[in-house]
Amino acid sequence: MTLNDVDAVVLVGGQGTRLRPLTLNRAKPLLPTAGVPFLAHLLSRIRAAGVRHVVLGTSYLAETFENEFGDGSALGLELEYVTETEPLGTGGGIRNVYEKIRTDDVLIFNGDVLAGTDLAAVVDTHRTGGADVTLHLRKVLDPRAYGCVPTDENGRVQAFLEKTENPPTDQINAGCYVFRRSVIESIATGRPVSVERETFPGLLESGATVLGHVDTSYWRDFGTPYDLIDGSADLVRGLAPSAALPGPTGDSLVLDGAKVAADAIVAGGSTVGAGSVVGSGARLEGALVYDDVEIGEGAVVERSVLGAGARIGEGARVSGAVIGERVEVGAGCELLDGIRIWPDVVLPAGKVRFSAGV
Ligand code: GDD
Ligand code: MG
Repeated sequence: MTLNDVDAVVLVGGQGTRLRPLTLNRAKPLLPTAGVPFLAHLLSRIRAAGVRHVVLGTSYLAETFENEFGDGSALGLELEYVTETEPLGTGGGIRNVYEKIRTDDVLIFNGDVLAGTDLAAVVDTHRTGGADVTLHLRKVLDPRAYGCVPTDENGRVQAFLEKTENPPTDQINAGCYVFRRSVIESIATGRPVSVERETFPGLLESGATVLGHVDTSYWRDFGTPYDLIDGSADLVRGLAPSAALPGPTGDSLVLDGAKVAADAIVAGGSTVGAGSVVGSGARLEGALVYDDVEIGEGAVVERSVLGAGARIGEGARVSGAVIGERVEVGAGCELLDGIRIWPDVVLPAGKVRFSAGV
């Protein structure tokens, strides 16, 4: 089944606070991931399912989306943009694009999730079950950071518990829904609405048919630094599905115009951005390196993201870090375990360390 009779909506209005400082001047869905803006991967999945008309619900840094993707024709899509001047939340964002929707059933996506889901199968569950809303669900190890969604033996959703400390099941909202167009119309206008905290619980209370569609395909929310970094490595290695990769899948992706010394190691799904230079003897493992970055001789970069123009000194070690644009990490420094450095900070050689070394 090809979904040429289904429109798609992608919510891209969030501020991406968990990804600061990377999101200070770039919206989360536009952060480079395996060499292209994250959203290009998601749009490639939507296009591959046969959807043609996609509406983006924008708010934070709204104009940057149209600057990037234009009318969508390069992607084989018809893209439209609807902007909230004040953020309306996830439910308000969905309601705000209502006038643009042309089909009876609508696929709605969180703009920071990539999944291998068979979208036609989700729509089929929705239509066969005569649902008002169908939610893509999946099981995760730790459901606390997500919406917990228990279902009964018929797949009917029983509750929607957003970010709860004691989730009754490990089954979560995967951030992709099918809505009947008329349900979108019923969402309140003119004020913020959370689809997770207000719309879904309200639909359940009113007796609407809300179904869950569970699968086990690839799934990741790219909303935290480790998810962005690991998800990018998944894409580079071909573990995550996308038709938007700028090169073949493999152990690394070195973009045009990057220079990697012959004896440097670039592995684990690392990306090296255009204009970046990796020095002799350096080792990159699962690193997401943006454009125009310099990595000095013998430096080690593991499971980290390096913002554009950053400089990593000789022999420095950067592991589990978010390094802002143009940051200079001096030679021999050691940055570990969740550290984030805001743009333009300069760390002198050898002055930041974790271990006791010299
Ligand atoms: N247009 C618009 N307006 N979009 C918004 C707004 C808004 O006011 N607020 C957030 N968004 C967009 C974000 O850009 C993102 O693409 C999506 O809505 C979800 O927001 P997140 O901030 O990423 O939410 P989350 O990851 O904490 O939780 C959501 O996703 C989980 C799955 O990844 C929830 O839907 C959970 O229930 C779900 O489990
Ligand atoms: Mg998210």
